[in-house]
Amino acid sequence: MRKSIIVIGVLLISACSPKLIEVTQADADRGASKYSGLTLTALNEGKSLYTQNCGECHGLKKPNSRTEANWNSIVPIMVKKLNQKMGKEVIDSKKQEVLLQYLVTMANAPKK
Ligand code: HEC
Repeated sequence: MRKSIIVIGVLLISACSPKLIEVTQADADRGASKYSGLTLTALNEGKSLYTQNCGECHGLKKPNSRTEANWNSIVPIMVKKLNQKMGKEVIDSKKQEVLLQYLVTMANAPKK
């Protein structure tokens, strides 16, 4: 009985947070044509900034659910919301750029 409650709980939680695809070196290479010097490490950093901060108020949206232009306009607004909610600058302008580069690069990822 208890076990099935746990199983249901896990299912519910995973249903709310879509599984984000792994970032690969191929993504970094593709992204580097837009953001020169982009590395796999930076992409992974952007991904953790995203998963750690952007699911506070709503579920995480898949990077490819929005276009590059969408992300460019949404991210600054959402970072402001986040920092306001937290009462401090959790994501500064440098981190915001890392986050944005992750979202845009993965928004442009070829469909698997
Ligand atoms: C303080 C709460 C809060 C946090 C933190 C937050 N959001 Fe949001 N987000 C909202 C609300 C409220 C909406 C819906 C209304 C709106 O669009 O302003 C929204 C809507 C969105 C949308 C849909 C908007 C559209 O037009 O498609 C996206 C995408 C989004 N958020 C991304 C993010 C990202 C990326 C982060 C992390 C930097 C983030 N959010 C953090 C509150 C938040």
